Amino acid sequence: MLMNTTIAEVSGDLLLDVRNGLTKEGQKELPSKYLYDEVGSKLFEVISGLPEYGATRADERILHTHADEIVEHAPGDIAVAELGSGSGRKTRWILEALSRRRHTSYFPIEISATALAMCRRELSDMEAISIVGFEREYLDGLLEVAARRRDGQRILVLFLGSTIGNFDHPAEIRFLREIRMILDPQDFLLLGTDLEKPIPQLIVAYDDPLGVTAAFNLNLLVRINRELGADFDLTQFRHVARFNLATRGVEMHLRSTCDQVVRVPKADLCVRFLRDETIWTESSHKYAPEEVVQIAKEAGFHCEAQWIDGEWPFAESLLIAQ
Ligand code: TRP
Repeated sequence: MLMNTTIAEVSGDLLLDVRNGLTKEGQKELPSKYLYDEVGSKLFEVISGLPEYGATRADERILHTHADEIVEHAPGDIAVAELGSGSGRKTRWILEALSRRRHTSYFPIEISATALAMCRRELSDMEAISIVGFEREYLDGLLEVAARRRDGQRILVLFLGSTIGNFDHPAEIRFLREIRMILDPQDFLLLGTDLEKPIPQLIVAYDDPLGVTAAFNLNLLVRINRELGADFDLTQFRHVARFNLATRGVEMHLRSTCDQVVRVPKADLCVRFLRDETIWTESSHKYAPEEVVQIAKEAGFHCEAQWIDGEWPFAESLLIAQ
């Protein structure tokens, strides 16, 4: 329920997104991009190292093993733009391979200032790389990179870690099309996608026994308490991961363990939760390799090559803008 005052003096997308998401009819939701504040970004680093969560390591293994081969498909003068750089650790391999050829510009695009700082620190020793980071939304950042393109230069966009799987189905193609529209023909998109695997293995990847993923998800409520003055009681919410057979994705929720009312003063909001009602915070779609080729095609890209990890099914697909 909305309270009867204005929100004029409070700004920012978080406020509006919290307001819209928590007052929605039916399933309440919060956008997953808000998971990555300072604590969230660090917790995600820990998740990447958990034995149950294999995606980040698989992603890095492919890039480490095949970097030279990947960049051979992209000759000439290349500027690298990364959507969501995270710590930058995986990216090192591609940048190293490119910088053996010539000095290379790298533009990490991140909404998380913490991740951007980690990335700068991680890659600061690379001499043949110049780093210009953008603390922006993905497409805004990519427009900036495209505006800096030199004559004859091609852009290689890195979209790793299977973040594409966090979009729902029509939004995923729409997003790839928007990337395509910013690019020129013959530009590249290296797209990481987590692949289908047995459901129990997926569930434990998103609900690890140490509880790091639970802390990561619950931290979203901590952030809303801190930034919007809300009074979410963390002991009254539980992290839930479940597999949605219809969308073939893992869904993350925060479940209210009792009937309760939460106040969010800066959004002039009082939200009622029924016992077992959930806030949906993220979905992570799992792909079949041919599905990646298909969605790429629908978005205006040709899939030039695909690499799949042998230990943890994960694909890296090199797409060329048509
Ligand atoms: N993009 C990652 C994924 O879908 C993010 C992630 C990992 C995540 N574990 C999570 C997001 C738990 C929310 C909750 O794999």
